[in-house]
Amino acid sequence: MSSQDIPEENLPAEQAAEHGHGAVSLADEKHPFADPGLPPHEHRIQDVDERAAKRSERTVALLFTISMLATIGFIASYVGIPHDKSIFVFPLGHINALNFALGITLGVALFAIGAGAVHWARTLMSDAEVADERHPIEAPPEVRAKVHADFKQGAKESAIGRRKLIRNTMFGALTLVPLSGVMLLRDLGPLPHSSLRHTLWAKGKRLVNMNTNLPLRPEDVAVGSLTFAKPDGLEETNESFQEEIAKAALMIVRLQPENIKDKRELDWSHQGIVAYSKICTHVGCPISLYEQQTHHVLCPCHQSTFDLSDGARVIFGPAGHALPQLRIGVDSEGYLQALGDFEEPVGPAFWERG
Ligand code: FES
Repeated sequence: MSSQDIPEENLPAEQAAEHGHGAVSLADEKHPFADPGLPPHEHRIQDVDERAAKRSERTVALLFTISMLATIGFIASYVGIPHDKSIFVFPLGHINALNFALGITLGVALFAIGAGAVHWARTLMSDAEVADERHPIEAPPEVRAKVHADFKQGAKESAIGRRKLIRNTMFGALTLVPLSGVMLLRDLGPLPHSSLRHTLWAKGKRLVNMNTNLPLRPEDVAVGSLTFAKPDGLEETNESFQEEIAKAALMIVRLQPENIKDKRELDWSHQGIVAYSKICTHVGCPISLYEQQTHHVLCPCHQSTFDLSDGARVIFGPAGHALPQLRIGVDSEGYLQALGDFEEPVGPAFWERG
């Protein structure tokens, strides 16, 4: 077959110009080594036979399609296979079915994209040898223009515009494969919605001593003591105990009512007993140090200090907000109870800016 029968974009530029391949320059004083030139270019079957090129095109498209199907299989496995199901796979033995399916499908999806790209490059993209002289690093306008022209030439030679089947399936495969990573975001757990803004505290919920697990009466809280409390019904055996106690943990302190400077604090207290969130508003450490004389509580993490006699406002340290107070009273049997939930989100203040 003559070069006239070969599609123009498949011809090496040198051959099109009828020189370059196999050229030999002689050594001279300025260039002491002879340039052996490039070996004669050998055409692939796809360069000279359009049916072979079509077969390669279909193979590449098939590989990209396999990648798409494998990604769909990954998603279906993630959704459909129970976490605790195991299967026997020789020679691995009994393994988790979900992990096996995810590994296989993701591996096939990535491999098929790679194999498709390699097969495309080896059979359909131009394989003309190009000799490029070294040049200075700076890029003058004419070089940039050349790069632009080379890019366009490369796009033309890859036939991405002409071979729409490859282009479309490749875009499909590249678009779908990141979905595998997106699906894994589900493992971060359900969206919190407004759950961070609410705690288990509600009107009528008794305050239970965290140490004794008994409901608290006002007479159980001595002046100068620091008592930690949780909502009635929240047990360590509850599945959500850690999440709930991280929001609902309380500090109970009895002050002399005349020492309480903040009017709202006084209104929300019972006989001088005040209940505040135990979670520091800086980055959420549990507060645990109480100074009887000054009524200050101190967070051990970064030394934020709150004045419990003045609405738990911050008097030192990086915390940006006062500790949320829980409004309390006593029920008909004389036990301390909440009169509602916290009115502000507990813990780090960034929730209030969300
Ligand atoms: S977490 Fe309390 S001061 Fe930083």
